[in-house]
Amino acid sequence: MTYQHTRHWIVDKSVGNLENSPQIHEAAGFIKQNKVVAFPTETVYGLGGNAESDEAIDLIFQAKGRPSDNPLIVHIAEKEQLYRYVRSVSSQADKLIEAFWPGPLTIVLEHNGELSDKVTAGLPTVAVRMPDHPVASAIIKASGLPVAAPSANRSGRPSPTTAAHVTDDLHGRIAGVVDGGPTGVGVESTVVDCTNDEIVILRPGGITKEDLEKVAGPVTTDPALVEEDQAPVSPGMKYTHYAPHAPLILVDGDRRFFAQKAEEARREGKKVGVLITDEYEGMPADKEIRLGPSGDLPAVARRLYDSLRAFNQNEVDVIYAQVFPETELGGAIMNRLRKAAGGKIISQKE
Ligand code: TXA
Ligand code: MG
Repeated sequence: MTYQHTRHWIVDKSVGNLENSPQIHEAAGFIKQNKVVAFPTETVYGLGGNAESDEAIDLIFQAKGRPSDNPLIVHIAEKEQLYRYVRSVSSQADKLIEAFWPGPLTIVLEHNGELSDKVTAGLPTVAVRMPDHPVASAIIKASGLPVAAPSANRSGRPSPTTAAHVTDDLHGRIAGVVDGGPTGVGVESTVVDCTNDEIVILRPGGITKEDLEKVAGPVTTDPALVEEDQAPVSPGMKYTHYAPHAPLILVDGDRRFFAQKAEEARREGKKVGVLITDEYEGMPADKEIRLGPSGDLPAVARRLYDSLRAFNQNEVDVIYAQVFPETELGGAIMNRLRKAAGGKIISQKE
């Protein structure tokens, strides 16, 4: 479906009683009519549709150009909604819910068949989360529905952290976008499989492994996240993702090594972009985008997707990006950068 106009509602997320605002009322009304609407969450903007409607879910997949074997996360605003769609909630899952909802944690459980099969891509499980954002919860509450919402980007592009990113990718392809300002966390939610006693991280995100272990004891990480040749449990992990407009290569090395690689590419006549922290400022590059101080991982996460999008079409021929230690939010940041690079990395140690 194409639209002459995609509605653009501006909402001040700090005002109370958002559910009754005319903008939210109208956006939620579209969702009730099985149309799709983008809105902010605390992680990234989502493209929301009625999770009980095949028609709405088809529109989400079409607008994004997303492969239909990649299931969607169902967003809820009250814990009671969870019990309407899953078979049971294990005590481990319940601990995580108590500790991290609302927040950037998505829990995978067995579903009971009440949602559209298209949301779950025919799997026996469903991924559910309760976002911690006043605009997202107001829309979910005002619609009275479970809201399926993938990130509101064209499939393969970096996820959107502002309404402008959504418009760049989806204008004319969706019914509307609720502009509630830039998102806070900047990378998507952590996805955990809670269908067995052992908790498995399927996608690293806003809640870190360290955060989870404080609450639930040792958790494991899906081997597909580290070993390329393993079949991923989370279907979304197997596709190209977060791709900027030029090939991106990770550079694991000190300042001098990084500068040397950039210089070499320039000597080959390439226009070079660099994605670096403040400590690597002043690289020999045609475009330099800074992510802030390397010690401030939350700020790096918040800026990551906007920075990947900042390299415009035909502006540079290659992007060299700095690497991060994989503790705390560094795990999610490196997971996204590795995908943006399609696994390409140059290492000083070799
Ligand atoms: O922060 C977020 O999670 C954002 C905001 C909008 O809430 N949403 C988001 O959705 O990132 P999406 O569709 O871009 O990513 C959903 C991820 C994919 O990797 C998908 O494969 C996985 O969750 N997933 C969904 N259902 C699953 C299931 N039943 N089992 C395993 N993985 C599942
Ligand atoms: Mg996504």
